[in-house]
Amino acid sequence: MRKPIVAGNWKMNGNRSLVSEFSSLMHGVDADAVDVIICPPACFLGSFVAPDFALGGQTLSELDNGAHTGDISAEMLKEFGCRYVIVGHSERREDHCESNALVAAKALKAIESGLVPIICVGESLATREAGELEGFLAAQLDALTVSLTAEQLSKTVIAYEPIWAIGTGVTASPEQAQDAHAFIRGHLAKFDANVAANIQILYGGSVKADNAEELFAQADIDGGLIGGASLKVDDFRKICQAAG
Ligand code: 13P
Repeated sequence: MRKPIVAGNWKMNGNRSLVSEFSSLMHGVDADAVDVIICPPACFLGSFVAPDFALGGQTLSELDNGAHTGDISAEMLKEFGCRYVIVGHSERREDHCESNALVAAKALKAIESGLVPIICVGESLATREAGELEGFLAAQLDALTVSLTAEQLSKTVIAYEPIWAIGTGVTASPEQAQDAHAFIRGHLAKFDANVAANIQILYGGSVKADNAEELFAQADIDGGLIGGASLKVDDFRKICQAAG
């Protein structure tokens, strides 16, 4: 039985007053039915006062510490109460040239440090239209399975985020999303069937309060990674309720 997760990725948005609004996030959300995570910019992690949801970072360094200006370590995230960290978001893959190998190294660092990495995969429109969706996803997943043991992979969450659906208002249809999720689970099953059956795979890309339920009803969709709609507490709460 895979427990649904709804994670909010604030990206480079928000401020202290948004943090305060989220103090009431869990009113009306059944915490037994859904795990809720907020991933704010790192500078706001310390502003959440005893949240009754989990906190996550948006990235981490694959290194422990040292002269790496602007980077943030797993231990720093943990010190500010994070249990999760997003790894390999397409915006970081693109803006910061994060390769599949670097994403795997960051995921490994998270796991070794006791954080749960939410590892993002997903294709561009050009890749999908060229009929290369499955090969592209397979390459992203294979970079993980060459670096992680089955036990380590079992301590991760995967997020399928088609790049063409991120921030565009164009959500993948429930069937498109389910097909990609089923492919991901099936591909991971070649590595370890038990891990694949139990790993949570989240969908991300223009999830809104009015389309979440249909997406989350799909057999291989175990919740969502939410961008824009995670910045409005009422909308985000509805999405959490749709998963739970
Ligand atoms: P949107 O929900 O704004 O499309 O963003 C999705 C996303 O990138 C979450 O990580």
